[in-house]
This record gives sequence, C-alpha cells and structure tokens, in this order.
Amino acid sequence: MNDLIQHSRRTFLMKIAILLNGIVGVFLAIPIIGYLLGPLLKKDSSYNYWTPLGSLDQFPVGETRLANYHNPVGVAWDGQTGTIPCWVRCVATGKFQVFAINCAHLGCPVRWFPQSKLFMCPCHGGVYYQDGARASGPPLRGLFQYSYKIAGDQLMIKAGELPTLSTQASVAKPEHSPCQG
Ligand code: FES
Repeated sequence: MNDLIQHSRRTFLMKIAILLNGIVGVFLAIPIIGYLLGPLLKKDSSYNYWTPLGSLDQFPVGETRLANYHNPVGVAWDGQTGTIPCWVRCVATGKFQVFAINCAHLGCPVRWFPQSKLFMCPCHGGVYYQDGARASGPPLRGLFQYSYKIAGDQLMIKAGELPTLSTQASVAKPEHSPCQG
C-alpha cells in the first residue's frame, strides 16, 4: 500500500515537473519564434507605405520648406522621436525633391539657408546646393532623397524606409538651374 502511494506521488510530481517545464519552455520559445517569423509576419505594406507631407500649396514653387511626417513603422511609445523632419523643395509645378534632414557625412540635421540657397551642416561644415548635391566639406555625396508622388492635392513620400545607402537612396543629378514656375 505504501509503495502504491509513493508511486502515485512520484508520478504526480513528475507530471507537475513536466507541466512546469513545458510552461517555461513555451515562454522561452516565444521570443525565438518571434525573431524567426518576424520577417514573414512583417507587413510589407509598412515599408512601402506612402505618407502625406502636406497639401501641394504648402510648398510654393522655388522654395524649400521643412515638413514633418510620422514614422509609419514606429511604435506607440516613440513619442516625439516618431516625428521625422525632412526638407521639401518644389522645383517646378508638380516636381519636387524631398531630402532627408540628415547630413550624408555623420547624420547631423542640415539647415536650409534661403539667402545663399545652400543646405549647411552645423557639425563639420558640410555644404550642399539647393538640389541636394554636395558643395563642400566632409560629406562624400549629396543629401539622400525620398521617393515621392502626388495623390490628389497631397505630396506623399515613401516613408517606410529611411533613405540611406542601403535602401533606395538616390542623389539628384545636379541641376543648378533656376526654378521654373
Ligand atoms: S555630420 Fe555633417 S559634415 Fe559631418
């Protein structure tokens, strides 16, 4: 009788141990499975997401203006860091250049100086022409640009991927021509 009680207690404890191990195993596996399946589950649309920068009348021909968009692949707790600035240049009616705000050298935010029609970087003196081409200083290339399109009266950019060398970054061919109205 004693043997029987001991046997059933041992069996019971073994089942409890297997159950607890199983629960711990499931919790440990969640991040690994998430990591492995993440690329499959990620919505492709978030990377190809077109986000509005504003209505076309906010960007007059011949001017370069600061605009902001909300990072479409951000998370709720990004706060202010989810708002990303960029420079919008309206070259001609319906023709734009949308520049990443970050310098192509080490990423400091560049500023636009309308008087000299130059973008200047405060960190190491990088300078860019109004079309984003490199003018002088340490940057080896021009400003990165976003793909854009016009939808109705809205200027949209492909905001899911920040323009960098590893994505679709492009450099505008130097125009150095005045804007046409
Ligand atoms: S980060 Fe702009 S020149 Fe270095």
